[in-house]
Amino acid sequence: MRTRVGIVGAGPAGLTLAHLLHLEGIDSVVLENRSREYVEARIRAGVLEQRTVDLLVGAGVGERLLREGIVHHGIELQFGGERHRVPLSELTGGKTIVIYGQTEVVKDLIEARLATGRPLLFEVDDVRLEEVTSTRPRLRFRHEGRPQELECDLIAGCDGFHGVCRPSVPPGVLTAFSREYAYGWLGILAAVAPSSDELVYSSHERGFALLSLRSPSLSRLYLQVRADEDVAEWPDERIWAELHLRLGLPGWTLTEGPVLEKGVTGMRSYVVEPMRHGNLFLAGDAAHIVPPTGAKGLNLAIHDVRVLANAIVRWYRSGDESALERYSDECLRHVWRAEHFSWWMTSMLHLPPDEDPFGLRLRLAQLHYVATSRAAATSLAENYVGFEL
Ligand code: FAD
Ligand code: DHB
Repeated sequence: MRTRVGIVGAGPAGLTLAHLLHLEGIDSVVLENRSREYVEARIRAGVLEQRTVDLLVGAGVGERLLREGIVHHGIELQFGGERHRVPLSELTGGKTIVIYGQTEVVKDLIEARLATGRPLLFEVDDVRLEEVTSTRPRLRFRHEGRPQELECDLIAGCDGFHGVCRPSVPPGVLTAFSREYAYGWLGILAAVAPSSDELVYSSHERGFALLSLRSPSLSRLYLQVRADEDVAEWPDERIWAELHLRLGLPGWTLTEGPVLEKGVTGMRSYVVEPMRHGNLFLAGDAAHIVPPTGAKGLNLAIHDVRVLANAIVRWYRSGDESALERYSDECLRHVWRAEHFSWWMTSMLHLPPDEDPFGLRLRLAQLHYVATSRAAATSLAENYVGFEL
């Protein structure tokens, strides 16, 4: 088999790249090691920046997103027993965020891909990359029990943090920068109308909690827990009791409902530089991870592949490689802005296990500053809705 761009991973990055290339008449093959059902059911992000929405709509895959996505103009920060609204739109010249599950984005992209008739192979095994520094890089894999070989011009490594593309780069080529956090998030999806019209980020003496949503009848809630927390220790009653403590306020009640799904996610900040090795281009979580507090991961993944698609189109149209050469630097500027913002939001809102009284007062001072200073709130807002560098 032969294609122009071999894409490893059918997450938001790989599927969006495949679609953007298709719109320009460039063929690709997408290889995914999980089943379609698994990929479409994996619950993750929920907050889309305006430019992510604009890209998906512009690419013709935003019809359901425009119909079912819920536009938000602000978020709430809660600490010291009070909520403080950050009016995102007012502070950013009218920008908004849209609540639409990553699962829904992925379903829409898979449907669009299948409609093009171009290849998207699920349940491939044992993907291996060969000769990525040559002009004919290859992907070897097994599909439906048979070994396959795919010759490409370029390979896009869109296979997430635990994929094969980044580890296939020889030692010494990439430099990794990372930070681990001593805590993670226990997330639940509950069949109940969200108790607040806007997201509530709560910094509480028992730890962080977040109230989010997926639809008018589905709530998404998170609790800060230990990084190695066993979800079995959290029966539904314990989760709700803890959410009441961390999110509760006089005169406001969190409404409970059946828990449809729960899981624990670890947190880390991680970046590799550069995001390219020869004709292998890394994009999305394959190249960088942010802790989820700033809601940046999915948006960054989409940004990477927008830059990559434009560079690839230019190269095929005019033989001009300069945009491909700039790909890594161009993405990394945005990546590091998002890394800083995500680390900052995370550090401000979470309770570190070893926090001393001085550390606690610094965090509270920062929260008060964001809640009272228009300049500080504007800084949060412009990053949250997506800062244009
Ligand atoms: P992935 O979605 O990880 O996709 C990679 C794909 O590659 C997967 O389908 C995987 O199965 C496949 N794959 C892996 N290995 C192989 C292999 N060897 N061969 C073939 N295929 C392979 N981001 C936001 O922007 N906003 C949020 O609100 C937000 N909230 C989050 C909440 C949680 C609890 C979590 C866990 C994450 C959140 N994120 C959020 C982050 C976001 O989900 C990720 O950044 C996003 O999924 C990255 O997309 P991707 O396509 O790069 O990688
Ligand atoms: C959600 C996830 C986030 O990381 C965040 O900051 C806000 C909302 C969510 O899953 O709804």
